[in-house]
Amino acid sequence: MEDAIEKAKKQFGELVQGELDRVERMKKEEDWLDYQTLSPIVVGVMGGDGIGPRITNEAAKIVRYLMAKEEKAGKIEFKNIEGLTIENRAKCLKGLPDDVLAEAKKCHVLLKGPTTTPKKGDGWPNIESAQLGLRRALDLFANVRPVKIPADGIDWTFFRENTEGEYILGSKGMNISDDLAIDFKATTSQGSDRIIRLAFEFAKKNRLQRVTAVTKANVVKTTDGKFLSMAEDIAKEYPEIKFDDWFIDIMAAKLLDVRRRNLFKVVVLPNLYGDIITDEAAQIQGGVGTAGSANIGKRYAMFEAIHGSGLKMLEEGREQYADPTSIVRAAVMLLNHIGFVHKSERLEKAINVCTRFEKKFVCTGRSDGATTEEMGKYIMDVLSAQKDPNDYL
Ligand code: IPM
Ligand code: MN
Repeated sequence: MEDAIEKAKKQFGELVQGELDRVERMKKEEDWLDYQTLSPIVVGVMGGDGIGPRITNEAAKIVRYLMAKEEKAGKIEFKNIEGLTIENRAKCLKGLPDDVLAEAKKCHVLLKGPTTTPKKGDGWPNIESAQLGLRRALDLFANVRPVKIPADGIDWTFFRENTEGEYILGSKGMNISDDLAIDFKATTSQGSDRIIRLAFEFAKKNRLQRVTAVTKANVVKTTDGKFLSMAEDIAKEYPEIKFDDWFIDIMAAKLLDVRRRNLFKVVVLPNLYGDIITDEAAQIQGGVGTAGSANIGKRYAMFEAIHGSGLKMLEEGREQYADPTSIVRAAVMLLNHIGFVHKSERLEKAINVCTRFEKKFVCTGRSDGATTEEMGKYIMDVLSAQKDPNDYL
């Protein structure tokens, strides 16, 4: 047992060193990239696997349609990036193959389809999730996930910390003995500061009057305690915005409380809680197929569906019915992020017309619903029917 303890101490020391090095890198981080200064803006399209290529293709078609003039003028360029499939990643034994990362780094923003993350016992080698690799390698620290149900007055934007917490050392846990397994959670001042500030700035810019921090600081006292006290301090710099904090368990319950839930506006939270709560919120909106997700960093940004690669749909032979709405909503965020706010609004309105009002085609994920292609074409048709761009709903 002495040996096991010594080994664990050494490993722990290395982890701490790695995290301290990460802090130093964050201290030196560059300023926000200004897309206005770029020509062309390079958009990488990565299909992923499972239902990924199919739904990503629809989203890419729509973005290219909206940006046709700019593409022709050389102001934007689209690049297909291959190799993010589970087969290729398993072959390279890497969650994120080096050549794929190198290609991604040549772009400014990425539109990414879902990728399969192997889990114990499913036959794939135990490689890491591709999106975790991308989030980390490109330092995409903010996972922004909006959920809106206008009819119920719900307008939530979740700011999930995307690079640390339980995730940063998630594959570096230790089996100390046959009976004892230990994992780690790491929270830094720099990592907390940048996500909390981004949430407050978003609230300010969009005139949203409330920012809510969600932790479990009553139990996870050190890391969540740090996150919460930093949120309390930063809140003081925004006296015009109401700040409150909730614990994750009661927050999960409150999202189901129809009398109170529309009081929440901007919610900022550590990584794992954000992962869980945003799936719950997306389900309240109509399912994980309906919500988009933006991964924002200062230099790069990646836009993806909130859901996984839908392997079950493939196994059951119904992948052609996958709903592309989630990744098309991600495309809305992409357009907004690179400065094409008006086009982004046009696309958002078109999706709303298709999925909330007209509903001529509805995806159910099964043969009683529309196919991915029908849904994509439907959104495109509604878009092109917006004759005067100022005349949309
Ligand atoms: C998400 C996903 C990922 C996460 C998984 C696939 C690693 O669930 O984007 O929310 O946990 O972040
Ligand atoms: Mn998730």
